[in-house]
Amino acid sequence: MAEYVVEFGKDGRPVEPDGRLDAPAFHRNHQAIRAVLEKFLAGKSGDVVEAGSGTGQHVVDFARHTPEITWWPSDLNEQHLRSIAAWRTHAALPNIRPPLRIDLSDPAWCAEMHDGSGPSESLAVFCANVIHIAPWRVAEGLFAGAGRYLRADGRLFLYGPFKRDGSHTALSNAVFDSSLRDNNPEWGVRDTAELERLAATAGLELVEIAEMPANNLILVFGRSPAA
Ligand SMILES: C[S@@+](CC[C@H](N)C(=O)[O-])C[C@H]1O[C@@H](n2cnc3c(N)ncnc32)[C@H](O)[C@@H]1O
Repeated sequence: MAEYVVEFGKDGRPVEPDGRLDAPAFHRNHQAIRAVLEKFLAGKSGDVVEAGSGTGQHVVDFARHTPEITWWPSDLNEQHLRSIAAWRTHAALPNIRPPLRIDLSDPAWCAEMHDGSGPSESLAVFCANVIHIAPWRVAEGLFAGAGRYLRADGRLFLYGPFKRDGSHTALSNAVFDSSLRDNNPEWGVRDTAELERLAATAGLELVEIAEMPANNLILVFGRSPAA
């Protein structure tokens, strides 16, 4: 069954003295995710926002392999923000900015997106394993912000388990979906068709689906020509 941790550091795993948290799933999924991101990012420069960064491990790995990209991690949870900042300090890479406090249920995301101190005209937004462990309004805010802050050729990358046109792609995902909904009726594995409808409201459309290990997908959204 797929694994999920809503709040890292509460699962009994050790926390480094500097606040760095470790997510077991990161070690299993980061290379496959990076391979998909790199196909788009290769040869480009610009700002990329990670929404719901969690521990901060993904952004460090991605930044190490894409020195031309400026990475902007973010989260809502204070302990996660501390972990992201600690991983950033530990990595000492010049292309990771301090974490932004973004609540995705707010379509404006955060003040830094507007006052010139944050990313501008983003090349991409990356979001892993967030929208099924959050109310639907978080998906709404994620797409609204992506529609507002992505540059013309920008992409929104969504990693996680998804239903495809109403059906689960694996029994393990169906079981996971039930456990999520038991935990919180507002959570649940999201459906590609519903996400396409949501994307359309933000001027975005699904341009690619990448199949990933462990019955996960990466959904890639770009600006729709009509927008
Ligand atoms: C399961 S973790 C995934 C973390 C990381 N992306 C990963 O794949 O390891 C979900 C993350 O979403 C964050 N999150 C939940 N609700 C959020 C919201 N409304 N705005 C921003 N982040 C949120 C949590 O704090 C947590 O870090």
